[in-house]
Amino acid sequence: MYVILLGAPGAGKGTQADTLVRELELVHVASGDLFRQALGQGTELGLKAKSYMEKGMLVPDEVTIQMVLERLSAPDCESGVILDGFPRNLNQAEALDKALAEQGKAIDRVVYIKVSEDELVRRLSGRWICRDCQMPYHATDSPPRVWGKCDKCGGELYQRADDIPETVKERLGVYFAETAPLIDYYTRTGKLLEVEGKGGAAKVGSRILSALGEGR
Ligand code: AP5
Ligand code: MG
Ligand code: ZN
Repeated sequence: MYVILLGAPGAGKGTQADTLVRELELVHVASGDLFRQALGQGTELGLKAKSYMEKGMLVPDEVTIQMVLERLSAPDCESGVILDGFPRNLNQAEALDKALAEQGKAIDRVVYIKVSEDELVRRLSGRWICRDCQMPYHATDSPPRVWGKCDKCGGELYQRADDIPETVKERLGVYFAETAPLIDYYTRTGKLLEVEGKGGAAKVGSRILSALGEGR
């Protein structure tokens, strides 16, 4: 199964991917996580992505598409993937469809997590993520068991540089201009499942699982 998680910055893509990976035994492929890992390792890819991420802009398609398609061709992705943060514009969506079609595969479902703008800003301003496994936490809504440490792997928690208010504003602008049109794109193919993102993460998670169950 190939599932895309679509939604604005802060909608809960990373949070829900964690649940879906466990429940559906899929591999989590998140373009933002791949860029942050590259950044942490100081690779050429990380350096290329850095200036765009800091400004809240999209990393150029030629870099992003190649990185994600390469990740998708790894053996562990054979039986199914949760894509988070990719595709993020029409060009990326078309490149993904084309690459999958060449392997006789296709996207099965696109889960669009709908959240109001005020709530997105609130969530991002309280977010902490794990430096090692990238699991997101929230200072008040979903704090870790031990402050500053990841429940899953014990890694150190930090606040993302692009979660400062000015950059969040920029990221939301980019989302509405470039990514939101994908809602129409996947509605036309009959693959879109819209899920209400209000309420706690567990509630949203069961909505997604039941939408996927009904859609199958
Ligand atoms: P990326 O890392 O993909 O960031 P994003 O899309 O802006 O999304 P976020 O990770 O901010 O939000 P999320 O939906 O994962 O929310 P989360 O689960 O953490 O991209 C970063 C940058 O990389 C981009 O700006 C760009 O530069 C580059 N990039 C990445 N992909 C690219 C691409 N395809 N093309 C070009 N450039 C690309 O949750 C947020 C917070 O809310 C957390 O604190 C969480 O605990 C909390 N929370 C979650 N769910 C709930 C809930 N139901 N109730 C209360 N709190 C909740
Ligand atoms: Mg994320
Ligand atoms: Zn961790």
